[in-house]
Amino acid sequence: MDRIIIRGGNRLIGEVTISGAKNAALPMMAATLLTEGCSTFRNIPELRDIVTFKTLIEHLGGKVEQEGHTLRIESGTVKMPEAPYELVKTMRASILVLGPLVARMKRARVSLPGGCAIGARPINLHLMGLERMGAKVRIEHGYVDMTAGRLKGADICFDTPTVTGTENLMMAAALAEGVTVLENAAKEPEVVELAMVLNKMGARIDGMGTDTIRIDGVEELRPIVHTVMPDRIEAGTFMIASAMTRGNLLIRNCPLEDLDALVVKLKEAGVEVTPEGDGVRVVGSGQIRSVDIKTSPYPGFPTDLQAQMAAMMSMANGLTVITETVFENRFMHVSELRRMGAKIKIDGRTAIIKGNGRLSGAPVMATDLRASASLVLAGLAADGKTEVSRVYHLDRGYERIEKKLAAVGADIKRVKDAPKARQV
Ligand code: EPU
Repeated sequence: MDRIIIRGGNRLIGEVTISGAKNAALPMMAATLLTEGCSTFRNIPELRDIVTFKTLIEHLGGKVEQEGHTLRIESGTVKMPEAPYELVKTMRASILVLGPLVARMKRARVSLPGGCAIGARPINLHLMGLERMGAKVRIEHGYVDMTAGRLKGADICFDTPTVTGTENLMMAAALAEGVTVLENAAKEPEVVELAMVLNKMGARIDGMGTDTIRIDGVEELRPIVHTVMPDRIEAGTFMIASAMTRGNLLIRNCPLEDLDALVVKLKEAGVEVTPEGDGVRVVGSGQIRSVDIKTSPYPGFPTDLQAQMAAMMSMANGLTVITETVFENRFMHVSELRRMGAKIKIDGRTAIIKGNGRLSGAPVMATDLRASASLVLAGLAADGKTEVSRVYHLDRGYERIEKKLAAVGADIKRVKDAPKARQV
């Protein structure tokens, strides 16, 4: 298993370019299951989750070719509408094949994802919506088994906005008979991007980016060529890295318009954030000011940047209250940050951080993707050496992060463990 070793204290200075968005690329790959023929996606990030999704599409019977950041997917050959436990357990986003498979193949068998390191993460709203559109749902042996005729448009109201739930139902509704209205829909930029991709394929969707999305079903969709939007969470992570290291980073290809909530908080904390060309320049000041954070669905502060902000606020002077309203268990990074000297108390969904202006390097263990990113950021700003283990979590969602950070001055390297000698 790889580890990342960081010697903290270097300021990050220079330019970094943001890769394509994981959480936009995955639903687009799922959307090809609604079409026959070959779709091409450019600016696909090279990540473990993308490889897992490729394997899933191949398992279903599709053909996938990758050349650098370009991916070609032929889904007309899909025969086997089953997403097995082995794939779903490594990546919950596999659930995104449910809507497209049931819409096009009239059948789907997808392993139930189960809980994960950040919360229970049920899929009841995905199932409720598909049932309202006429699918018959059976849960047996850990799998969701769905059968349907042609799905029928329906009025569906989510109890809580769900990103992949909205995406699954939007894809299913694109091929349904009649009109589907999704109320209290997720407004995340990746949901808007998927709606645009589906419209390019011939779907008739409007209202994306608002609470109410209307989908007028069509008979068929066609393959497309599309360039994936830049990753706002990767961009936000580099912005926080620059702020924490008193850096001066120009973050290129940055979707700044999708990061308002972060920009407001960084400015409150005393960080200079200035748009520049296709990106943003982030300059960290000497002293970070404490700011309270409350996560909520877009356009609120993203839960996917909460762990990174917790690392930053551990370096501030003063008291910070972080409230996580999206996932019930997303404070797994806290016990590791404490090992680096952070003073953090957890009370239910709230973390209270008493920043003392410094962190100290230590061996720490990653527990999920964004928690790993927060530990890397803490390591960059800490005194001395930090060793982050289980970095496979990081590889799920950050393309070559250690190379990008090293190129702007971080003392960071990846170490591969030698295979263990066989015991006799
Ligand atoms: N929820 C339900 N029932 C459902 C679906 C969701 O109760 O059927 C609840 C969840 O338990 C959670 C809330 O609704 O409390 C919001 O969850 P959501 O469904 O929006 O999350 P998701 O679709 O599973 C996506 C991203 C996550 C990101 C969240 C929130 C993808 C592939 N994943 O997850 O990304 O944190 O939205 O923005 O788009 C990451 O990239 O590290 C990551 C975890």
